[in-house]
Amino acid sequence: MSTLTKLALGVMGQLRPRPTKGDARPVIKLPAPDRRGGLPLMQALAKRRSSREFARKPLPLPVLSNLLWAAFGVNRRAGGRTAPSAINAQEIDVYVALPDGAYLYDARKHALRLVAGSDLRRVTGYQDFVDDAPLDLVYVVDHSRMKMIPVASRESYASAAAGAIAQNVYLYAASSGLATVIRAWIDRSAIADALGLTHDQHVLLSQTVGYPQA
Ligand SMILES: Cc1cc2nc3c(=O)[nH]c(=O)nc-3n(C[C@H](O)[C@H](O)[C@H](O)COP(=O)(O)O)c2cc1C
Repeated sequence: MSTLTKLALGVMGQLRPRPTKGDARPVIKLPAPDRRGGLPLMQALAKRRSSREFARKPLPLPVLSNLLWAAFGVNRRAGGRTAPSAINAQEIDVYVALPDGAYLYDARKHALRLVAGSDLRRVTGYQDFVDDAPLDLVYVVDHSRMKMIPVASRESYASAAAGAIAQNVYLYAASSGLATVIRAWIDRSAIADALGLTHDQHVLLSQTVGYPQA
């Protein structure tokens, strides 16, 4: 769908998900992430960039597993994560829009939990490539986990935390030959409706990931 059509539908509150082609599973247990290997950090930094052309090729489950673990997985016994959060509130949830449904990444179980049995990739942004790239991530803050943080600081702290997650994804993508772009040009209320978010939850950013267009 073109950006203009999306903008028009967005204004009318009509930017809606597509039906899925396959059956969504209620839970997808991800394989254990491979914590070894990858490019040395300085080489990954040298390759980091935004890309907006994606092949339609799906991401294999082990790649999705590594990607989500790199993004915001649990990396310590005590439950610490790969990205920081103020007073360790861990207020960001990572939603995962795939062709067969939208899921919440459960970092503790390293699994995906179905939240919508529709293909809502097209709802995750105004740019046309988001519709058919194999994966769109959505970063959502849950304000109910930020009660210990002064109200005036919550928005900036949550944005910083989401930015750290997004950079983890950029670095994993650079290290693994994937393409990605972080996006703020999104219809937050359309995404919130499609994901069935509560009043405490706010959509911050979206990020597309896939193989680069050949
Ligand atoms: C907060 C933020 C919002 C952004 N929003 C978008 C967006 O909506 N669409 C897009 O194509 N790129 C978006 N970008 C990506 C920037 O355009 C990109 O990072 C910039 O052009 C620099 O290019 P580079 O990432 O390849 O270094 C965003 C970047 C940031 C940090």
